[in-house]
Amino acid sequence: MRILLIGAPGSGKGTQAAAIAERFGITHISSGDLLRKHVTEQTSIGKVAKEYLSRGDLVPDAVVADMLRKPVVAATEAGGYVLDGFPRTVAQAEAAYETARGLGVAVEVAVYLEVPASELTRRLLARGRGTDDTPEVIAHRLEVFEQKTRPMLAYYADREELITVNGARPVAEVSWSIAVQLHQVLRRV
Ligand code: AP5
Ligand code: MG
Repeated sequence: MRILLIGAPGSGKGTQAAAIAERFGITHISSGDLLRKHVTEQTSIGKVAKEYLSRGDLVPDAVVADMLRKPVVAATEAGGYVLDGFPRTVAQAEAAYETARGLGVAVEVAVYLEVPASELTRRLLARGRGTDDTPEVIAHRLEVFEQKTRPMLAYYADREELITVNGARPVAEVSWSIAVQLHQVLRRV
């Protein structure tokens, strides 16, 4: 099974992707977690990505696509993936689709976690991750989501199965709702 999780910063992509991976026996791949690992390990990718991450800007497409190619193919061979945080723009989605289709690893279902901005800010301030959970950077990340990522919802609604889930509920309730809707879609594909 190949799933994509779309949501604003703090919407619960990481939390729900871990639950989906466990429930369906697939691999969780987070572009943000991988980028942060590269920064910590000071790899060449990490050196490029560092400034973008601390500003809350998107890392250049080519860097992210190169970083993910191998893990996505490996996860597909191992039974499937839930991708958290990639793609993030229509351009990334289109490029990924071209590459992934050729390799037989294209996304089957996209899940959008819908959460109001006030709740997103509250969660991120409470978490306080590294340098990107400050009030200024959070505000910028939310803006980047509105401008660059939200248009992708229409792209997936046209192209694949797009599931929208109310993510402003307790974690277990959101997980349950995602699982129920995924089972419904998977019966059709
Ligand atoms: P990324 O790591 O993807 O961060 P993000 O989108 O800002 O989202 P977060 O990880 O902060 O939140 P989340 O949705 O995973 O929620 P979580 O489960 O953690 O990206 C970071 C940066 O990397 C980007 O800014 C960019 O620079 C770069 N990047 C990444 N991908 C890229 C790409 N494709 N292209 C270019 N650049 C890229 O939950 C958040 C908090 O809320 C937690 O404390 C959690 O415990 C809590 N919580 C979760 N669910 C609930 C709930 N239901 N109720 C209450 N609390 C909850
Ligand atoms: Mg995350």
